[in-house]
Amino acid sequence: MIIAPSLLAADFGKLAKETERVDRSGADWLHLDIMDGHFVPNISFGPAVVERIRPLTRMFFDVHLMCSKPEILLEPFARAGANQMNIHVELGDRVTQLLWRIKALGKKVGLAINPPTSISLVQPYLQQIDSLLIMTVHPGFGGQSFIYETLPKVQQARAWREARHLRYHIGVDGGVDFKITADCAHAGADTFISGTTLFHRRNLAAAVKKMRVIAGEAARLNREEVLTTNRPSAAKPQPK
Ligand code: DX5
Ligand code: ZN
Repeated sequence: MIIAPSLLAADFGKLAKETERVDRSGADWLHLDIMDGHFVPNISFGPAVVERIRPLTRMFFDVHLMCSKPEILLEPFARAGANQMNIHVELGDRVTQLLWRIKALGKKVGLAINPPTSISLVQPYLQQIDSLLIMTVHPGFGGQSFIYETLPKVQQARAWREARHLRYHIGVDGGVDFKITADCAHAGADTFISGTTLFHRRNLAAAVKKMRVIAGEAARLNREEVLTTNRPSAAKPQPK
């Protein structure tokens, strides 16, 4: 289970302190939302900010590029200290090349998909990626409500991963609170990106721990359900 606080919900006046707070929280990844004011109707921050916070933690930096032209940003973010870069499948015929370029830069490869986009669009790339980022809100802003209609995508992504013996992470991003964490883990998510729910708690470490426990428990229940359904002994006893 990967718990990834999203820096978008941090106090931008104290980014260094906020980064150190995440570092001490026991979270696995720091999710960094990059918005270009074109692919999404908002602007966040760029490679200079990532470079500035990089020395403050050894945490895995998960860079989410909500950008129309990620090709001009891959190298700067790689140099700034990204560990993984996610580009969007909505970029169409540029996706294959972008994924290869991320890999060539020695970084983990992530692919993100917006709520209205059909999950079938990611299918051709599943073998190429380390992580699938399922947007569970329309990207651009933190603090929005989770869109429940995206949950079947998580189930589909898990079914494909099992059927094809792949290992990509399945992440959910947007509106992920504690209750929704359980629903997503039950559906097959293993990576939980959460801004508002985690950052707005005074005790970030406790919130991260709570999310991890909830996710782990829901995933365990799900595995048990799958086992019970598949086990022959679970079949109803036949009348003699
Ligand atoms: C939305 C971003 C998300 C966002 C999540 O455009 O991609 O990563 O920061 O924040 P919350 O948890 O507040 O919805
Ligand atoms: Zn994001």
